[in-house]
Amino acid sequence: MKPGTDVVLREVGLRDGLQNISAFMPTAEKIAWLEAEAASGMPEIEACSFVPPKLIPQFVDAADVIARALQIPGLTVSALIPNLKGAERGIAAGAHKLNFVMSVSEAHNQANVRRSREESVADFARIAALIKGLDPARRPKLAGGLSTAFGCTIAGQVAEDEVVRFAVRLAEAGADELVVADTVGYGNPAAVRRVFKAVAAAVRPLPLAAHFHDTRGLGLANCLAALETGVAMFDACLAGLGGCPYAPGASGNVVMEDLAFMLEGMGVRTGVDLARLIAVRAILERSLPGVTLQGAIAKAKLPKGFRAASASVKERVAV
Ligand code: COA
Ligand code: ZN
Repeated sequence: MKPGTDVVLREVGLRDGLQNISAFMPTAEKIAWLEAEAASGMPEIEACSFVPPKLIPQFVDAADVIARALQIPGLTVSALIPNLKGAERGIAAGAHKLNFVMSVSEAHNQANVRRSREESVADFARIAALIKGLDPARRPKLAGGLSTAFGCTIAGQVAEDEVVRFAVRLAEAGADELVVADTVGYGNPAAVRRVFKAVAAAVRPLPLAAHFHDTRGLGLANCLAALETGVAMFDACLAGLGGCPYAPGASGNVVMEDLAFMLEGMGVRTGVDLARLIAVRAILERSLPGVTLQGAIAKAKLPKGFRAASASVKERVAV
């Protein structure tokens, strides 16, 4: 975590957002987005996905995007990987962090990555071993992502003890952190509290990240619930883009600007400059025509006299 901040926000729009948009966003526009959002103070950006370009052509330029992102000083550059081949490509590209994805729902794991959950865990262990064998200077961090942790549009309910079980499996296999994800927006604050507390107790001291979709309007409430259990890493998307192409009915992530507004207003320092973050939407407006941009704070504007927690820190430092 950067000094003077309390939480790590992670922009996942270049991955979760773009994987759901079939029109190719030109590489130069992806880079403009990355650079502008990093300049707003965003500490971590998931810049692409190392999946077969035949499957998701949006990520045909993944290695180029990573190469440019790595030139931005201080930015943690991460990438999604679904398997060992993705890990090899991510390592070759030099990503700082690889976010492996599997689903707690067996049915969604089959639909998304075409294998059983057990096969995914075995693949994750192979990836962890590969990373451990690398020269420490080239060793990315490995995050274990648990999708559909609050329910699945294919299978319906997902048992909370199954989330804990697979969290423990990934922790034991060598995860540096875990991402607990509500892929389809089935979660609510009570469930979030229970699941994050149970997972944290089972894998302590492994850091947990929260990844929520706002499909049913509870995204921010779920972030707050996770925050109150001690979570300090949050995924979100500029303008609320996002959605899994292999989860029927999936829609956008929590809106990053609204999440940063809530946290900053509560006194939780994100290190992000809200006005600069909101201004990055202009890049999406021009380069993703026809895509609806979500977000309350961009429409309503910041309250008069709003004092962001991070801004007061900067003022104090400046005095
Ligand atoms: N990157 C590039 N190419 C890859 C790859 C990767 N990560 N993984 C596999 N391939 C290639 C293989 O080399 C093989 O190529 P070939 O046909 O030229 O021999 C081909 O893809 C099929 O490989 P296979 O291992 O049989 O994969 P699959 O067809 O069973 O698909 C996944 C498995 C995991 C690659 C695929 O389901 C996937 O990428 N899922 C992720 C979907 C996604 O992005 N969801 C949203 C994010 S949560
Ligand atoms: Zn997602």
